[in-house]
Amino acid sequence: MEKKSFYITTPIYYPSAKLHIGHAYCTTIADAIARYKRLNGYDVFFLTGSDEHGQKIQQKAEEAGISPIEYVDKIVAGFQDLWKRLNISNDDFIRTTQKRHYDVVQEVFRRIYKKGDIYKGEYKGLYCTPCESFWLERQLVNGKCPDCGRPVKEVSEEAYFFKISKYADRLLEYIENNPEFIQPVSRRNEMINFIKQGLDDLCISRTSFSWGIPVPIDTKHVIYVWFDALTNYLTPIGFLDDQEKFKKYWPADLHLVGKEIVRFHTIIWPIILMALDLPLPRKVYGHGWLIVDGDKMSKSKGNVIDPIGLIDEFGADAIRYFLLREINLGQDGNFSRDALIARINSDLANDLGNLLHRTLNMIDKFNDGIIGEKAAVRDVDQNLIAEAEKTIRTYKELMDNMQLSDAIKLVWMFISRSNKYVDETAPWILGKDENRKSELNRVLYDLAESLRIVGILIFPFMPGTAQKIWKQLNIAEKIEDSSLKNLKWGDLPENMKVNKPVQLFPRIEIEEKQNSNKYIQTVKDDDSENVKKITADKDSVGLISIKDFSKVDLRVAEVKAVIPVPKTEKLLQLTVELDGKERTIVSGIAKFYTPEELVGKHVILVANLKPAKLRGILSQGMLLAASKGEKLKIVEVDMPVGSKVK
Ligand code: ME8
Ligand code: MG
Repeated sequence: MEKKSFYITTPIYYPSAKLHIGHAYCTTIADAIARYKRLNGYDVFFLTGSDEHGQKIQQKAEEAGISPIEYVDKIVAGFQDLWKRLNISNDDFIRTTQKRHYDVVQEVFRRIYKKGDIYKGEYKGLYCTPCESFWLERQLVNGKCPDCGRPVKEVSEEAYFFKISKYADRLLEYIENNPEFIQPVSRRNEMINFIKQGLDDLCISRTSFSWGIPVPIDTKHVIYVWFDALTNYLTPIGFLDDQEKFKKYWPADLHLVGKEIVRFHTIIWPIILMALDLPLPRKVYGHGWLIVDGDKMSKSKGNVIDPIGLIDEFGADAIRYFLLREINLGQDGNFSRDALIARINSDLANDLGNLLHRTLNMIDKFNDGIIGEKAAVRDVDQNLIAEAEKTIRTYKELMDNMQLSDAIKLVWMFISRSNKYVDETAPWILGKDENRKSELNRVLYDLAESLRIVGILIFPFMPGTAQKIWKQLNIAEKIEDSSLKNLKWGDLPENMKVNKPVQLFPRIEIEEKQNSNKYIQTVKDDDSENVKKITADKDSVGLISIKDFSKVDLRVAEVKAVIPVPKTEKLLQLTVELDGKERTIVSGIAKFYTPEELVGKHVILVANLKPAKLRGILSQGMLLAASKGEKLKIVEVDMPVGSKVK
C-alpha cells in the first residue's frame, strides 16, 4: 500500500534582514510536526523558503547600494545556515526568485486571467510597505496600518485586479462548513467577521517599482508580492512539471503561519485556488507571537533575539525544547533567557539527564554494562509499565491534536515517574544481594526500556538528544527509521551491552555578577545634577522610575455610548470621547455595570495604550478600575474631559 502523504509548510520569510527567534519558533514547530508524522509512517513533504520580491526588499537593497538579488542571496544563505544549525528537516527550500517559481506564478496569472477573473483598472488607495499590504481609509487605525501601526502611503497607479469579491460567499460557506480549516477557533471567528464586512477586489500588480515577477501579458507591471508568495506552496510539488507528485501532495495538510498573516492564507490564498479549480488546503493554523518584555519582536523595534547566538551557547535542542515546551501553540508567549536557563537546568540536566546517567551508571556498576534478562514483573514494575503504555497512547492523541507543549509535559511526567521508580526499587540495595539478582535485572531492564521509549517520544522535539540517548543505550536501529505505530513496552532486547554514560546537558551556572547587571538602574538624583548608578537590592527590583510612569498617558474621557459585545458575558464595547474624537474601548466589566449606568461617566483612560483586537473589535485604550475579589468599580473623576491625570 502506498504511504499516506502529509504536506506541511511554514511561511516563506522575507530576506529583508536576518531571521530572529520568532521565525525559528515557527519553523521549529513545523519541524516537530513533520518528524512526528514521519515516525507515524507518513510520506512527509516539509517546505520552507524565502519570499524575495517586493518593494520592501528593493528599498533595502537600494539602501545597501547593491542589487536586490545580491542582497537577498546573502541573507538567504543565512536562513539556510540557521535551519541547518537548528536541525530542521525540510524536504525543499523554495526561493521565489528561482526560475521554477517564476514559471508557476506567471502560469497562475495567465490561467486566472483567461478565466476572466483578472481585469485592468486604476488603483487609488493606501499601502503599508513593511506589511506589503493594501488598505482602505476606513480600515486604518489612527491613520496607521491596522496590522503593524506604521504609516501608510497613498498610491495611485494603473493596476490589475483580481475579482475576489466574486468568491466571497463561496469562501464564507467553505469556512463555515469546515471547522478544521482555520485554527485555532479565535482566528476562525476573526476571519468570518472580516469576510462578512465585505471583500473588495484585490490589486495584484504594481508599476512603481520593478523587483518582482512581470505580469505575463503586460510586462511593465510586476505581480503583487503576496500573489507571488502564496503560490510558492504549489511550486516544489510539481504543479507545472509533475502531475503525479502534485496529486500526491496537494491539497496541503497544514499551512503553519503566524497569526498576523492568517488573513492572507485564509482569504486570498483559497480564492486563488478556487479560481484555479484546485482543492483548498486542509488546515491553516495561526500560531501566536514570541513576545519580549510585552512587545512583539520585530526588526524595526530593535528588540530581536538572534537564534544563532543562543544555539551556539546552549545547543539547538535546548532552544527547540524551550520554544515548544514553554509556549502553547495558539497563544503568545514570552521569551526570556532566565526562563530558558531554568528549563535547561531543571528539565534537561536534572530530570532527563539524571535518569539516563544514573541508569547507565547502575547497569555498569552492578551488571558490568549488561542490561540483563527480563525477570518476573512485580507490582512496582507493573505500575511503571502501565504508566509507559498510557503515556504512549496519550502522547499520540495530544500530538494529533497539535498540543505539542502538553505532549512534552506528558513525557516529562513519565521521566519523573521513572526517576521515582529508581527510588522505589533502590537498585543499590538489590545490587548488594546475590539472591535478588532477578529483581535487579527487572529494574535495570525497565529503566533502559523507559529511556528507549522516551527517546522516540522526544525525537520530534529534540532529534539530536534522542539520537544520543539511543546511542548510549547501544540500540542498533536508527531512531528516525523506527515507528511510533508499533511502539510498545518490552521491545528492547535483553542482555544488551550498553555504552558508558555521557552527559547530555551540563547544568548552567548563573553567574551572580552577570545576573545582577540587570538590577543596575540609572537614576537622576533630584538634589544634584549627578547621575549615579545604584545597585538595587532585591527589594527594589520591580520599582519603576518617574520617567517610566510618565510614559502612561492617563486622561479624563466621557463615556458616550455602550453596547454589549455579542456572544460574551464579560465584555462591553464603549464609545468614549477625548479631545473631540471618539474611540472604541472594549472592557471586561459587563458583570459589574449595565450599559445605561456607564453613559455620561467621566472615566480615566489609558490613552496611549497600543490598540488591541478583542473578539474582532479594535480596542483603543483601557479604563482604570479598582478591583478586589468579586468587586470592581470604575475610577470616576469630576473633571473636564481631556484633563491629564498624573
Ligand atoms: O510575513 N513570534 O514574512 P515574515 C512568532 N513573507 N513568530 C514570528 C514572530 C514572532 N515575534 N515574528 C515573525 C511574511 N514570526 C511573508 C510570508 S507566506 C506565503 C509569506 C514568524 O518574514 C511567523 O510565523 O514577516 C510569521 O507569520 C512569519 O514569521 C512572518 O515572517
Ligand atoms: Mg512580518
